[in-house]
Amino acid sequence: MCKKSVFYRTRRCVALWMVLLFMGIYQVASASPRTALTHSAVAVPDQFAADTANAIFAKGGNAVDAAVAVAFSLAVTYPEAGNIGGGGFMTVYFKGKPYFLDYRERAPLKATRDMFVDSSGKKVIAADQPQGSVIGHRSVGVPGTVAGMWAAHKRFGKLKWVQLIEPAIDYAHHGFVVDDALASIATSENAKRFAGKTNFAEHFGKLQAGTTFKQPELEAVLKRIAAQGPKGFYAGKTAALIVTDMSANGGLISAQDLADYKAVWRTPIQADWNGFQIVTAPPPSSGGVALVQLLKMKEMRREDFQGVPLNSARYMHLVAEIEKRVFADRAQYLGDPDFYTVPVHELIDEHYLAGRASQVSLSGPSDTSKVVAGLNIESPEKPQTTHFSIVDKWGNAVSNTYTLNGFFGSGVVAEKTGILLNDEMDDFSALAGVPNQMGVVGTDTNAIEPGKRPLSSMTPTIFLKDGKVALVIGTPGGSRIFTSIFQVVSNVYDFHLGLKDSVGAMRFHHQLLPANTIFWEPYAPISGQLAADLDVAGYYLANQGFNGDIQAIRVQHGVPEPVSDPRGRGVTTIGK
Ligand code: DON
Repeated sequence: MCKKSVFYRTRRCVALWMVLLFMGIYQVASASPRTALTHSAVAVPDQFAADTANAIFAKGGNAVDAAVAVAFSLAVTYPEAGNIGGGGFMTVYFKGKPYFLDYRERAPLKATRDMFVDSSGKKVIAADQPQGSVIGHRSVGVPGTVAGMWAAHKRFGKLKWVQLIEPAIDYAHHGFVVDDALASIATSENAKRFAGKTNFAEHFGKLQAGTTFKQPELEAVLKRIAAQGPKGFYAGKTAALIVTDMSANGGLISAQDLADYKAVWRTPIQADWNGFQIVTAPPPSSGGVALVQLLKMKEMRREDFQGVPLNSARYMHLVAEIEKRVFADRAQYLGDPDFYTVPVHELIDEHYLAGRASQVSLSGPSDTSKVVAGLNIESPEKPQTTHFSIVDKWGNAVSNTYTLNGFFGSGVVAEKTGILLNDEMDDFSALAGVPNQMGVVGTDTNAIEPGKRPLSSMTPTIFLKDGKVALVIGTPGGSRIFTSIFQVVSNVYDFHLGLKDSVGAMRFHHQLLPANTIFWEPYAPISGQLAADLDVAGYYLANQGFNGDIQAIRVQHGVPEPVSDPRGRGVTTIGK
């Protein structure tokens, strides 16, 4: 092994042994030579999902297998957002390549542009009305989750499809013990708003803490999906039950809508930032564009952020200034890319963003009415969510956000299916300039059209460093999604806080409208001197209630560190 002259030999031997010693130490603290990471890891919204993921890893499954199984499992145990009656997005990093799966709901073919506008033609039907976009059958978009999970499984799965649905079937059949958090959401105002309007209470009115909750109808549907694949949902008995329920209650979804539904592989948005490569959600999400805009504009104004303490009034002002511009672009340019060309490259172009960042006002809030969309192009005229993050020991990663939109979606359970349906139609802009339940406005680009996907804010994201996964992150929270992710990322990489502290830190939100309003969360309220400083700076404060449930995994030197947001009931585990 060690030849040549004594001097040379000694020097080489020492060097060789040092390398071997280092490799030995490194392997104890990091991944084995056959794997990229020391362990798999998950950050998921409940304990049942964590158990499901671990069972899948124990069977040799990869991150995508675990993700599919977790998605089905949450459809049973996390009914406020987990679903097969909704849709979402999955960002995947697999064998060193990035992918993005769009399984967002679509507007039914019978949907019309003005379907949520009242007879005066000037007002949107109130959100609490059964004919509106938030509650009841007309608010439901064609669900995408089952097609999405199937597409992910077909492309990347190692285990058999039925193995991925077994845990969900088990939870539906044997039941699961309801915890305090779920019981309190199921009896909160979020659920009470369905009273007398939908059949929600018949199905979920008995969610009491400490009791075992079984869902035999949902179990039967899951068994059909396990046996028949997506046909177990989009065709045959399940589809017939959904369509019958829709026709009996003024809903629009037809057999053709279900049969036509396809999940779509899209090119993820990729951008370089701070030595990382961001892989994130393209349209029909606004989230990826917005996240890149936020991170890059903050970076461009780094001198103004220099020495500004995290979450001080000055910090909030500077971030709000950037957010104003992001939301102005969002309202004008973002929508379904299958219906017109969204100017994604232009919106994240460095030169464009430098111009936008230069408009940030240092002296006080910019006049809201003057902050308009920034591209020099015509606006094209036509052309309760949950997140989980998973890495496997091979270095693959899944960042998945899916949703029913509001808590428990439309409140409609399709009769004899146990399937809670979404109210995703509210993510369209029902009338230009009129805010939806998330308070965001839109224009023609996000107007209702048959078969169109409503604009989303969901931002499942993966950060890479030198081609390896560095951070997997996402959250629910509607229009707060990308501002929450932005804040956590900035806490980690700009303020060098640990991931746990970064996720646990106070978050705030501004979205152009209402003017100069900074939203705070009860978890960490803006009060006292900070509130007074923001008042002096020209801001109004408003309680936004819920502000996200981040599930994130940071990977350093091959060691994954999963963190669940203390705001939710999320659970992290390290698996095989
Ligand atoms: O797609 C969207 O942006 C919304 N439907 C997400 C809704 C949401 O995050 C609600 N969660 N709390």
